[in-house]
Amino acid sequence: MTEALSKPSTGSFPTERSKECPFDPAVGYLEFREKEPIARVSCPAGIDAWLVTGYDDVRTVLNSPGLSSAVPVMGHANPQADFDTPINPGSIIQSDGEAHARLRRLLTAEFTVKRIQALRPYIQKLIDDHIDAMLASTEPVDLVRDFALPIPSLVICELLGVPYEQRDRFQQQSGILTSVDVDPDVAIQANAEIQGFVAQLVVDKMRNPTDDLISRLIARAQDSGQPLSVEELVVLGLSLLVAGHETTANMIALSTVALLRNPDQLDELRANPDLVPSAVEEMLRYLSVVQFGLFRAITEDIPLGDETLRAGEWLVASLASGNRDTSAFPNADQLDVHRKASTHLAFGYGAHQCLGQQLARVELQQVFSTLFTRIPTLRLDIPFEDLRFKDNTLVYGVRSLPVTW
Ligand code: HEM
Repeated sequence: MTEALSKPSTGSFPTERSKECPFDPAVGYLEFREKEPIARVSCPAGIDAWLVTGYDDVRTVLNSPGLSSAVPVMGHANPQADFDTPINPGSIIQSDGEAHARLRRLLTAEFTVKRIQALRPYIQKLIDDHIDAMLASTEPVDLVRDFALPIPSLVICELLGVPYEQRDRFQQQSGILTSVDVDPDVAIQANAEIQGFVAQLVVDKMRNPTDDLISRLIARAQDSGQPLSVEELVVLGLSLLVAGHETTANMIALSTVALLRNPDQLDELRANPDLVPSAVEEMLRYLSVVQFGLFRAITEDIPLGDETLRAGEWLVASLASGNRDTSAFPNADQLDVHRKASTHLAFGYGAHQCLGQQLARVELQQVFSTLFTRIPTLRLDIPFEDLRFKDNTLVYGVRSLPVTW
């Protein structure tokens, strides 16, 4: 793809966060938003891209027809991104047009409010069981390892129909995949095992359909006259695992830290549990864990503000920056559990907006209706300043979270 057809870059893609507040996005966004809200920047991947940082512009551009998602996911931020790897069929997040619409139609029925509500009792039991196990163990415990990671992973097992006896192993291996400090050989092995595991699951469901997402997906595609291939089904299953696990897990742990760091907000939440749904929206906005924004190839010229983004160029729409735009969210740098923040951009915007958002909401709402009620004295076991954050992974979060009570 040709680059820099319009104008040369005027700066670097912001990646450095402030030392004072680890919940604030990279400091460079504020200056771009104020001075050059549609800017050309050089990205860590070695390409130049348009960087869009204002709330309205992010929404406008992500809704434009002239964009393609058939790119390495968040590839702009990854110096090792491979722009030549072909996109796997079935990768919904990287598909466009009719191919995307077909996958989205097939999956949408799995994420209806009714289906997600039906998962509530299972999710609540998982939360209660993990809290019981933490309370029964010796303090301190790592809330990331023992709570934030297993819950979303086990919810996905339930969704995909992973047999109970295999869930521990599945959970363990997907935990390795999504951890940051893991030996590369161990990660490669975990990756291979998970792929083999999902492939086996698909083959089993083809032979013996049960009442689960993969079996229903197979039947629904068959009925539509365009059956899904095994490869597409495996990629779809893995996509759900990757899209739904790390994002939700990081949100659980990071929101816990944010609430402990803002005790006035936590007190309000404790005093008024009805605030939990709005607090969850606010934490999604404030923390914006998809920290490097969304990456697209521009396929048709897009007029935006005073600029024209040209076909053949790259685009990054910054969710984290749009979510801190004071024109959309007054006092945007404050966490405010009373704020009506549901128009935030944390789940993206436009055709690819998060398909699992209702599920993520239910998980987060139940976690934050339960955690501080069942463990009212929950607190950090190390000084806040000693926590280590994931500055360089695609999804932001805290690496580990030693807590006591
Ligand atoms: C707090 C948790 C979550 C966050 C912050 C989040 C964020 C996002 C974002 C920003 C996108 C847009 C990607 C793009 O436009 O390129 C997305 C897409 C997607 N998410 Fe989520 N997500 C979360 C949880 C989940 C869960 C629990 C699932 C399902 C198990 C899920 C499944 C998906 C899928 C399938 C897509 C692709 C949709 C498409 O391409 O049409 N996500 N998510």
